Amino acid sequence: MIKEEIEILLNEACKKAGIQDAEMKVSFSNLPEICDYQCNNAFALAKKVGKNPLEIAETIVNNIEVNEIITVEAVKPAFINIKLSQKALEKVANECLVTELGGLEKHQNTKKIIMDYGGANVAKALHMGHLRSPIIGEGLKRLYRIFGDEVISDVHLGDWGLQMGLTELQLKEDGVLDYYFTGKGKEPEITLDMLNEAYPKASARKNEDKEFLAQAEEVTLKIQKKEEPYFTIYKKIREVSVSKIKQHYGELGATFDLWYGESDASEYIDRAVNLFVEKGLTRESEGALIVDVAREGEHIPLPKKTPDEPQRYKNPMPPAILKKHNGADLYATTDIATILMRNENHNNVDEIQYIVDNRQSQHFTQVFRCCKLSGISPEGQSLTHIGYGTMNGADGKPFKTRSGDTIKLEDIINMLVEKASEKLKSNGVEVSRDLALKIGVGAMKFGDLSNTIAKDYVFDLDKFLAFEGKTGPYIQYTVARINSILNKVGVEGGKIQIQDKDEHDIVMAILKLLNAYEICYQDRSLNALCLASYDLASAFSTFYNNHHILNEQDKEKKASYVLLLKLVKKELAQALNVLGIELPERM
Ligand code: ARG
Repeated sequence: MIKEEIEILLNEACKKAGIQDAEMKVSFSNLPEICDYQCNNAFALAKKVGKNPLEIAETIVNNIEVNEIITVEAVKPAFINIKLSQKALEKVANECLVTELGGLEKHQNTKKIIMDYGGANVAKALHMGHLRSPIIGEGLKRLYRIFGDEVISDVHLGDWGLQMGLTELQLKEDGVLDYYFTGKGKEPEITLDMLNEAYPKASARKNEDKEFLAQAEEVTLKIQKKEEPYFTIYKKIREVSVSKIKQHYGELGATFDLWYGESDASEYIDRAVNLFVEKGLTRESEGALIVDVAREGEHIPLPKKTPDEPQRYKNPMPPAILKKHNGADLYATTDIATILMRNENHNNVDEIQYIVDNRQSQHFTQVFRCCKLSGISPEGQSLTHIGYGTMNGADGKPFKTRSGDTIKLEDIINMLVEKASEKLKSNGVEVSRDLALKIGVGAMKFGDLSNTIAKDYVFDLDKFLAFEGKTGPYIQYTVARINSILNKVGVEGGKIQIQDKDEHDIVMAILKLLNAYEICYQDRSLNALCLASYDLASAFSTFYNNHHILNEQDKEKKASYVLLLKLVKKELAQALNVLGIELPERM
């Protein structure tokens, strides 16, 4: 890597000048018009040896070996400005062109990571809230993999909770399930429409009708105990739901190695619970089995206003509930059992990551603490919740329909396709659903991933879908444009020459893009990659506007342009691939 080469040169210069342990670091220049990299170490070094900073910077510069990589200058107050030579730029460009990962280097120490994202709930329609997890999870997975990590992705469907009981009870009351209970008539086909109707109806009812809720809890328990016919019906419901979930995740380009659900951990629940009991970690509270996970200093008692008021706490970390009063399993139970299952099915897992809404952070704190207390997660294994923010409407509140309902994922996908089609049509492009889906979903993903994961952001489809600016379609369009030029020229051979500022800027944008992968890896985020891809696309755009590639008469120059185009395409394609954004051949 060029950056390391520069740092070596600077460190050698320090040694030559008699400055010990300098550990010189360079970073991209804050003033790219003036230089490519800068080094700010002279300030600290001067303090250490009690000399004038500018003098130190000058001494270092004067001691740099004559080389073919950089030209260096010390400037006030004490910066060292570094410019890459034409030769260095050309070396970078030509190497990136031929190396497998376009100049990106795999990590030496790689990790084994299980990623838990997606998390759609069976029997409920997917909605807006289910959009971010597959988008972010898929991107992070691809990012880890490109650096060489071994990643196993698990969709972890929500399929063991109250929604199952609610839906089944509602269907039963609607008379749909008679066959299973009486054995009379024909086996009914349970359709998605039935589920879409039954769950919301039951969910609303449970808030008003205590009796109904109690019955639904009973049915849930029966399903969890695999009692018939409840369990058979459950499996049918699950099947219908999962086929729809697969379709949606497919459209969003989210892929999973494991299509497990909470239910797959059910076999591990008894053992997991026993581990807690044996270690004396559980206690009974109002019939439920709970584990205290609060740590010292967290549970700060608040003064009571009246003596009979229950004790309240500041920053309370409530106990995790393993078993409900009726013996049913809860969300925490299946998550804990799933960690047991994961550690038994896979050896030496370094980290388990959960890409789940910020609002579940307390749940994950409880689950993680439980798994550490019980030893279900071995020492040294990281359990991480990567919490994401909410997608808001223009009013800053969670995005809803005009009538105040949450929006179904299906409707969002259709909206993306429709809007992308309109856009393409107005540009005179013939549109298929497949093309519109690639662009619509690409726009959504780029719009999402451009933000910091933890922050809320405003869902603004028109902005995401613009063909100019920091958007997915802009970058897809840049690549499509390169394709169309490459289809028209037939030049072979040659090498990339960097002769003017536009070309220089492209190489620097590539170096920054390569660095962005590293930043994203450190931060577990993808926004730096979005930004750097945009910067490269826009550097290409400037180059394209100033150069007549097809009409260039100088053969070597033309060959160089073609290779530079191929390089930009390769880099953008790789970045978009990591972001999980597809590239249409033309648009
Ligand atoms: N099904 C959950 C929900 O919709 C998300 C699952 C997240 N993953 C997990 N292991 N808890 O809220």
